[in-house]
Amino acid sequence: MEENVKKKIALLTGATGGLGYCILKELLKEPIDEIWAFGRNSARLEKLKEQFGEKVSVFCADLTDKDFCGFLSGKLKESNPDIVYLVNNAGAGRFKKTADFTAEEIGDTIDLNCKAAPVITNCCLPYMKAGGRIINVCSAAAFQPVPYINFYAACKAFFRSYSRALSMELKPRKITVTAVCPGWIDTNFLVEELNGIKVKYPALVKPERVAKKLLKDAKRGKDMSVCSLYMKMQHFLVKMLPQKLVMKIWISGARKYLED
Ligand SMILES: NC(=O)c1ccc[n+]([C@@H]2O[C@H](COP(=O)([O-])OP(=O)(O)OC[C@H]3O[C@@H](n4cnc5c(N)ncnc54)[C@H](OP(=O)(O)O)[C@@H]3O)[C@@H](O)[C@H]2O)c1
Repeated sequence: MEENVKKKIALLTGATGGLGYCILKELLKEPIDEIWAFGRNSARLEKLKEQFGEKVSVFCADLTDKDFCGFLSGKLKESNPDIVYLVNNAGAGRFKKTADFTAEEIGDTIDLNCKAAPVITNCCLPYMKAGGRIINVCSAAAFQPVPYINFYAACKAFFRSYSRALSMELKPRKITVTAVCPGWIDTNFLVEELNGIKVKYPALVKPERVAKKLLKDAKRGKDMSVCSLYMKMQHFLVKMLPQKLVMKIWISGARKYLED
């Protein structure tokens, strides 16, 4: 296919989740020919297809599967698209005592939250040109170590650090990388109850708001996107305060959910 007739596409992981659905809706407003939406829940993917029609192509895949990279590379080679947006949004984490994680759970957490996006990104980069946007959904958990959601937070710290370094490396190619660091978002990611206690999530925001903000920040070429004034203040404070103190404050609220 000739350069000037290449399809402009956006690739979105975690499209079946709460934030992914809102990002998909925002991407549909962009001048893009097609959106490749990835998830594991085939029923949810079919619903997306029904709701949004031809412009959305759905792919049911586990991003941690060892064959996924080959599968994606094959699809990209076949279509030879111009990837204008790559949104690495899929992610998962659990509130649980660090010592209670099995080796398999630790591996799964790292494979999804650390390994999958860089692997996908390296598959996609040959199909991106100047003006391309990579959006990596990290978390405010990346700002400091977080007891009781330790592996997830450590993975997100890796993902944020990786994203910011990649942003610098890709400057000569004029491809931007935005590390998105939201606080609590009202999606199914959040458990309602732990230890028989209803969990409180301070400064909870709607996924629609995060989705709008991250796309706006990516278009501005920002290397970080932090939604809400509350989270911006938290970001500033955790940079200023000793990490031990920040963890003590967090643990004083979180311990009741996880310790008897
Ligand atoms: N909600 C929050 O408070 C919050 C705060 C900060 C950052 N985040 C981040 O925001 C992103 C979106 O989360 P969300 O709140 O929308 O949660 P969500 O509703 O649970 O969505 C998670 C998405 O990730 C996908 N996913 C999980 N494991 C996967 C795997 N192995 N292979 C492929 N896809 C997989 C899920 O697909 P299936 O459902 O199809 O399996 C789903 O689409 C995540 O990266 C999360 O870490 C969330």
